[in-house]
Amino acid sequence: MHAIEVCNLKKSYTQGENALDSISFHIPQGAIFGFLGPNGSGKTTTVRILNGILSPTQGSALVYGQKVTANSQEIHRLCGVMTETAASYENLTGWENLDFFGQMHGLSKTEIKNQSEQLLYSLDLYESKDKKVKAYSTGMKKRISLARALLHRPKILFLDEPTSGLDPESAQNVTQMVQKLAIEHGVTVFLCTHQLKYAEDICTLYGFIHKGNMLGFGTFQQLLQEKNSTIYLELRGDSIPPSFTPYQNANKIYKIPITGDTDASQILQGILKQGGQVYEAKQIHWGLEDLYFAYQRGVSHEISTKSNDL
Ligand SMILES: Nc1ncnc2c1ncn2[C@@H]1O[C@H](COP(=O)(O)OP(=O)(O)OP(=O)(O)O)[C@@H](O)[C@H]1O
Ligand SMILES: [Mg+2]
Repeated sequence: MHAIEVCNLKKSYTQGENALDSISFHIPQGAIFGFLGPNGSGKTTTVRILNGILSPTQGSALVYGQKVTANSQEIHRLCGVMTETAASYENLTGWENLDFFGQMHGLSKTEIKNQSEQLLYSLDLYESKDKKVKAYSTGMKKRISLARALLHRPKILFLDEPTSGLDPESAQNVTQMVQKLAIEHGVTVFLCTHQLKYAEDICTLYGFIHKGNMLGFGTFQQLLQEKNSTIYLELRGDSIPPSFTPYQNANKIYKIPITGDTDASQILQGILKQGGQVYEAKQIHWGLEDLYFAYQRGVSHEISTKSNDL
C-alpha cells in the first residue's frame, strides 16, 4: 500500500479556473517527497486536500488506503502538518500549546509529557517552554509548530516551507530530524519548498507542478533521464585544440559535453597529446535547479555553474 495515492485530483476554487487540473501520483512509505513549483502552482491546495481540510472538486486522494474525504479523524491521526504560517496559540506557552494539542489527539498525560520533553529538547526549545508563544521569534514559532505536528507520532509529515525564517543552525537541525524520521521511523515526508538546494539535500522523490499540472514525477535519476541531461567537462587551460572546445564561457575556461568517465579521460588525453595545457578539470552534472528549470520551462537548460567554480 502506498502512503499517498492521488488520482485525477481536480480543484476549482472559482468556476472555470483549476487550481489543480487532474493530477495523479503515488508516494511510497518512507519517501521524502519534494513537491516543487512556483507561487500559485497548487502545492498548498494539494496538502490541504490530503489533510482532509479542503474537498476536491473531482478525483480521489488516499492516505494509507483511507479516503481523505471519508474519515477525517483517521486522516488527522495519520498526518502531522506544519503549515506555511506557523500556527500555535500565541497566548499560551510552548509547553501549554503541546499539552493542548496532545489532549486534542487523545494522548495520555504521560505520553504528552514524554513526547513534549523530547521534542522541545531536540528542537532546542526546552529553555523557552514556559514563555508565551507571542514572545517567540519567527524561527521559534516555526519550531514549536513542528513539535506540534510531530506530537502524535504521525505516519506522514507534511511540511510547507519548513525552513523559511530559520537560521542555518535551526534549518540544519530540522533537516536532520526530518531525515531521521524518514530513515529510522519510516515516516513519509511531503515537503513543499522553494528552496531547491534544501530539497536536493533531503528528498528521495520529486514532483514538479505548474499551474495545477504535474510536469514531472520520479527520482532524481528518472527525471534526469527523461530530459536527456548533459554532463560537461569544464576545464581551464591553454592552447586547447579547437576540435575539443565547442563552448568557451570565459577566458581560458572551456565546456565540453561528455557521456561519462571514459569520454572525459579520452578527451583529456587527446588534448594533452595534441599539445594542449590543462590546469584544472571538473565534471559538471545537472543539479536540482537545472532539472527544475528544464521541467518548468520545458526546454533544456544551460548549466548554471559559474566559471569560477573550477
Ligand atoms: N481559498 C482560495 N480561494 C480562491 N483561490 C485560491 C484559494 N487558495 C488558493 N487559491 C488559488 O489556487 C491556486 C493555487 O494556490 P496554492 O496556494 O495551492 O499555491 P502554492 O503552490 O501553494 O503557492 P505558494 O508557493 O505561493 O505557496 C492559486 O491560483 C491561488 O490563487
Ligand atoms: Mg503554498
